[in-house]
Amino acid sequence: MSDHDQHSSPSTLQPMIIIFGIILAIAVVVSMVLAKPAGEEPVPVVANVEANIKPVAAVEVAAPVTEHVAKSGAEVVKGVCAMCHAAGLMNAPKIGDNAQWAPRIAQGYETLVSHAVNGIRTMPAKGGNPDLSDAEIAAAVAEMANQAGAKFDPVTLAKK
Ligand code: HEC
Repeated sequence: MSDHDQHSSPSTLQPMIIIFGIILAIAVVVSMVLAKPAGEEPVPVVANVEANIKPVAAVEVAAPVTEHVAKSGAEVVKGVCAMCHAAGLMNAPKIGDNAQWAPRIAQGYETLVSHAVNGIRTMPAKGGNPDLSDAEIAAAVAEMANQAGAKFDPVTLAKK
């Protein structure tokens, strides 16, 4: 029994384990040395690609946002002015109420547009929407006043 055990293991396994250990140690050192220069280079390349792509994508996204498409008078009234002028909030002249609009209309189209653009008393400038152009406000004033007896034409005002 004891003779059989001693015959195979210690004498042949020990040098093999030592050699294998040395090979492993060399492999680890070599891989560490090789990994350093290989690992440093790809990082800046990837960063450059991302930096070069970014501005191009940002410009494409920003373009449609800055474009201002002019709204019609009806669109502006529906989207902005109706909030107060549909129900007569804070005593705003109601859309379609001739009696409330008559004294306003008597001031003339240009005066009304100027009041709507700059604001008057509790009426906020441009209905509180500074993104609207003066022409869009003029169209909205005509849209509302014409539903209460006026015959304002935004085209004639634009020519003056
Ligand atoms: C926050 C509520 C509010 C919004 C939104 C609003 N208005 Fe008014 N507006 C008023 C009030 C209140 C008055 C009456 C002010 C007064 O005469 O004291 C008024 C008055 C007016 C008048 C008459 C001014 C005058 O000289 O008699 C015009 C014209 C007018 N608004 C146009 C508009 C237009 C165009 C819009 C949309 C772009 C708009 N308003 C959005 C509250 C509003």
